[in-house]
Amino acid sequence: MVIKPRLKGGLALTNHPIGAKEFVKRQIDYVKSQDKYEGPKKVLIIGSSSGYGLATRISLAFGAGAETIGVAFEKGIEGKRTGSAGWWNTIAFDEAAEKEGLKYKNFIGDAFSFEMKDDVIKFIKEEFGGKIDLLIYSLASAVRTDPIDGVTYRSALKSTTRDITGPTINFEKEIMEDTTMGVATPEEIKSTVKVMGGEDWKLWIEALDKGGVLSEGFKTVAYSYLGPKVTYGIYKEGTIGAAKRDLEHTSDILNDFLKKRYNGEAYVSLSKALMTKASAVIPIFPLYAALLYKVMKEKGIHEGTIEQKHRLLTKMVYGNEPVIDEERRLRPDNWEMREDVQAEVEALWDKVTPENFKEISDYAGAREEFMQLNGFDFDNVDYDADLDLEELAKLRP
Ligand code: NAD
Ligand code: NA
Repeated sequence: MVIKPRLKGGLALTNHPIGAKEFVKRQIDYVKSQDKYEGPKKVLIIGSSSGYGLATRISLAFGAGAETIGVAFEKGIEGKRTGSAGWWNTIAFDEAAEKEGLKYKNFIGDAFSFEMKDDVIKFIKEEFGGKIDLLIYSLASAVRTDPIDGVTYRSALKSTTRDITGPTINFEKEIMEDTTMGVATPEEIKSTVKVMGGEDWKLWIEALDKGGVLSEGFKTVAYSYLGPKVTYGIYKEGTIGAAKRDLEHTSDILNDFLKKRYNGEAYVSLSKALMTKASAVIPIFPLYAALLYKVMKEKGIHEGTIEQKHRLLTKMVYGNEPVIDEERRLRPDNWEMREDVQAEVEALWDKVTPENFKEISDYAGAREEFMQLNGFDFDNVDYDADLDLEELAKLRP
């Protein structure tokens, strides 16, 4: 079968398995081109298959020689479906890790469940040396079933202040268009906090602690985003922002707990805006990202997911140059938030129109990044190749 890209708005309906290999390989090559670093030896990554979680796993494994456990929710080939990007990314990671003799293990399923937590803890005890040094929490999900009361919550990408209309990029139609974000009900705010807030992160730490699998000096970092003024209405002051504040509050609770028990630490890290599966569907965000890339590339300070996570780990979490704000948050978004960068993005934001957006933004770069998330648009992958889906279907993460 020949797999061609098929998009629906900010969603990719198909993924290319060979392209995914290239996607992962380029990230590994970047890490290998950098100095090795002293980091954690045993790591658990929740949300390990794409975006920031995958980049983190690659940096830790190939840069610090860490053994990694990845938890992700992904699907393989089923009927006409060609498997999710994260499925193929994970298989590509496995193959590369295997070659280097790096130990890894994947759990494909629902991180929010108690069953998953039990399975992972059992594995750590019986086959992973008994303890972990680091937990990275990099989940992005639209639904969560609370394992305590069994209620299923759905997150909403909505405003908490007023209806907000603003421009975004539609990657399917390749146009700039207005989107409107309605106001969330109190129920929708609560549900989004349930799904994307800190509750599950805390449940993981509690379960791992009870299981006796946390090492002395254990650290945990959850990924968050804040963003600049132009996105406040949709992000900081949106339902997702409410969830992220909950995550930050949780980091303080966990930090106190871990400090006492393990001389450990918990942080939230505010990452740079990037095109990922999760961010591509947030209204306004893709246009902001395209303008931001333009400015950051011109200044020579643009980072992709791997550069961003590698800097966070080598310089901040396991290095001597942490950038921490007054609210105790790690700030690898510091280059995005620089005053000169934001001033230029704002100036472009005022100028951008449906007619000029391809010229004045880095539309091509943002689109390429979006396509590459799904294994497309690599110049060295043959997209006319007839793939043997039956053979590919035998592969498992
Ligand atoms: P992503 O969609 O690329 O990755 C999400 C991961 O979560 C995937 O590995 C997926 O398999 C996993 N997942 C989803 N539901 C799951 C479930 N029920 N059980 C197990 N695994 C599940 O997203 P991303 O952009 O890398 O986002 C990760 C984190 O980084 C989020 O908290 C996000 O807010 C944050 N972040 C993203 C950006 C950005 O610009 N993309 C910026 C800053 C922070
Ligand atoms: Na991720």
